[in-house]
Amino acid sequence: MSTERNPAIRSIMMPRDTNALGSIFGGHILSLIDLAAGQHARYVAPKKYVTKIMREVQFIAPVYVGDSVSFYCSTIKTGRTSITIQVDVEATRGIDQLHTSQVTTAEVVMVAVDSNNRPIPIFEEI
Ligand SMILES: CC(C)(COP(=O)(O)OP(=O)(O)OC[C@H]1O[C@@H](n2cnc3c(N)ncnc32)[C@H](O)[C@@H]1OP(=O)(O)O)[C@@H](O)C(=O)NCCC(=O)NCCS
Repeated sequence: MSTERNPAIRSIMMPRDTNALGSIFGGHILSLIDLAAGQHARYVAPKKYVTKIMREVQFIAPVYVGDSVSFYCSTIKTGRTSITIQVDVEATRGIDQLHTSQVTTAEVVMVAVDSNNRPIPIFEEI
């Protein structure tokens, strides 16, 4: 069995995603955290999800153009209608794909919703 971890998503950082300092704009990382958490939630149970909470976001180290950034997700808690997800963001820098740096962590709560965007159970209730 492979022990390799699979990120929910992985993205290469491009010049269009920079801030005024020339590093990657934090809002771009936040939007990818949001996408990764949604992707993870759909692996847990295939529903439509909206983001309820993003908390404990820590920008630990900067991200640069050319970095390959991976968003690893794990389930902290599954409630009735919500899933709390830990997102750990790691970057490999430029041409060096062997060494990773942890750049950001966040906790995200996704809520499963129906077609009227009202909360629904994640799993069937008996
Ligand atoms: C998500 C939304 C449908 C939830 O509606 P609501 O009336 O708050 O629903 P509820 O009170 O039943 O809570 C739903 C779930 O969120 C959880 N929740 C609500 N507030 C919470 C908080 N502050 N911290 C952690 N979980 C929370 C509840 O515990 C519940 O989960 P559970 O059933 O697993 O216990 C509504 O708030 C909404 O539409 N928000 C906007 C979502 C959105 O547009 N996101 C994109 C932003 S750009």
